[in-house]
Amino acid sequence: RAQARGNGAGAGYPTARPRRLRRSSALRRLVSNVRLHPSDLVLPMFVKEGVADPVPLASMPGVVQHTRSSLRGAAVEAAEAGVGGLILFGVPAEKDARGSAADDPDGIVQLALADLASEVGGDVVLMTDLCLDEYTDHGHCGLLTDSGEVDNDATLARYGAIAVAQARAGAEVVAPSGMMDGQVGAIRAALDAEGFVDLPIIAYSAKYASAFYGPFREAAECAPQFGDRTGYQQDPARSAEEARREVALDLAEGADAVMVKPALAYLDVLRAVADTVDVPVAAYQVSGEYAMVEAAAAAGWIDRDRAIDETLTAISRAGADIILTYWATEVARRLAAAR
Ligand code: PBG
Repeated sequence: RAQARGNGAGAGYPTARPRRLRRSSALRRLVSNVRLHPSDLVLPMFVKEGVADPVPLASMPGVVQHTRSSLRGAAVEAAEAGVGGLILFGVPAEKDARGSAADDPDGIVQLALADLASEVGGDVVLMTDLCLDEYTDHGHCGLLTDSGEVDNDATLARYGAIAVAQARAGAEVVAPSGMMDGQVGAIRAALDAEGFVDLPIIAYSAKYASAFYGPFREAAECAPQFGDRTGYQQDPARSAEEARREVALDLAEGADAVMVKPALAYLDVLRAVADTVDVPVAAYQVSGEYAMVEAAAAAGWIDRDRAIDETLTAISRAGADIILTYWATEVARRLAAAR
């Protein structure tokens, strides 16, 4: 019921009043045009080899390193909530210099993929993070040269082998995250040579060397044993032009969709990429983003659920078609309940 108020009219008062459309929740709902949808959310999941029970992560309350069995359960919950995809990270029992477990047919991610294909296959897209850092004893995303540098070109062959192993095990999308030059082309060629011509690649194209990956390194047990990743991941102090270039290279090499990571501190980059490309754009709300909100909420300093929804809405508003978030299942349920 629009009510005449009578007062306030006349010279000197505004005729343009943006507040008119904010007056009721029904009006706000009518005009809102940034909407989250469960099917656009992707849940990152950790699966650890050789543990009898899920291992809670101190820096990511609510997130665990799964056993194969608890992974199945959590995947079913995500699928039932309507989450669009799952992305798997493996934590192997044994690590070595070349990350042999990454492409072992009996490696933890390969085994978990087979489990999930039978459990939730067809209901949710099964994606794999494709990288070496969880599998190498030195914690870097590639093979090292004798002098301890990450050897770009030698690493490409490893990525190709991992892609094929993941595809054979049932991955429906591979997502290379190692930031080696030429990785998308190498992976595309390796997949095609083995007949996986239809398997899409979502490239972590614009990935920054970020402090916000801190908790993930506990979750995936992949902190570099020396140095850092600034030699291959992007410098936060460069403008979005560099991200556009990375994206263009990945698309030229055959990427089917691209990703910006982290999300919240890189919304400008996300917007620039979304305005540039005509493929789906994903954004990864990373472990540190999750940890910040959970920690502040636990201290009673912010309204947890509102803060979560606000960050995800911001990421969507900045142009993400797909959002990777550790809150995927919870938020998908909340969205379903709100309908
Ligand atoms: C690399 C990878 C990382 C993340 C996803 N893939 C770690 C890194 O680049 O150091 C971080 C995700 C997060 O922080 O949630 N395999």
